[in-house]
Amino acid sequence: MAIQPIARMGAEILKRRAAEVADFKDPSLPVLVNDMIDTMMSVRGIGLAAPQISVSKRVVIFFVPADRNGGVEIPLTVMLNPVLAPTTQYRAEGWEACLSVPGLTGRVPRFTGLRYSYYDLKGQKHEVDAKDFHARVVQHECDHLDGILYPQRMADMTSLAFADVLSSEAAAAGKKLDLDPEG
Ligand code: NI
Repeated sequence: MAIQPIARMGAEILKRRAAEVADFKDPSLPVLVNDMIDTMMSVRGIGLAAPQISVSKRVVIFFVPADRNGGVEIPLTVMLNPVLAPTTQYRAEGWEACLSVPGLTGRVPRFTGLRYSYYDLKGQKHEVDAKDFHARVVQHECDHLDGILYPQRMADMTSLAFADVLSSEAAAAGKKLDLDPEG
């Protein structure tokens, strides 16, 4: 276990374009990925990009719980050098939260359909079609590789809020609010 500190908004490492992985056999890669998994699990996140633990490489991990993907879980996926191509022009707004922007949540427009490709740790290429929440998670995580945090993607900043304030106001109104996991 090597849980690493998570860089927070304002850190230079989060503003930079991360470098491509040039050598899939680089022995530091599995170490990095294990650190990312340990770190993400320690804070119950659903995704993490290498720059969030201060490593400027194009490496992302994520998973999608079954209840957010029509009953089908997307298991923990490790992506090196991911490339995204929207398969729709339509963007839908949804709540997002980020481990690098702790405590806050906001509504972010994202493409609802996406084809993404990436290399795994064995250097094998994969191509996947994603929609809705799955597509949202991948867009959020891959934005980290280009120095973009979700508030920069928001169309309407009035929804930016502290998650605990939303929760307590919803509770006071007798409603249950399902807040999204952070990535
Ligand atoms: Ni994030």
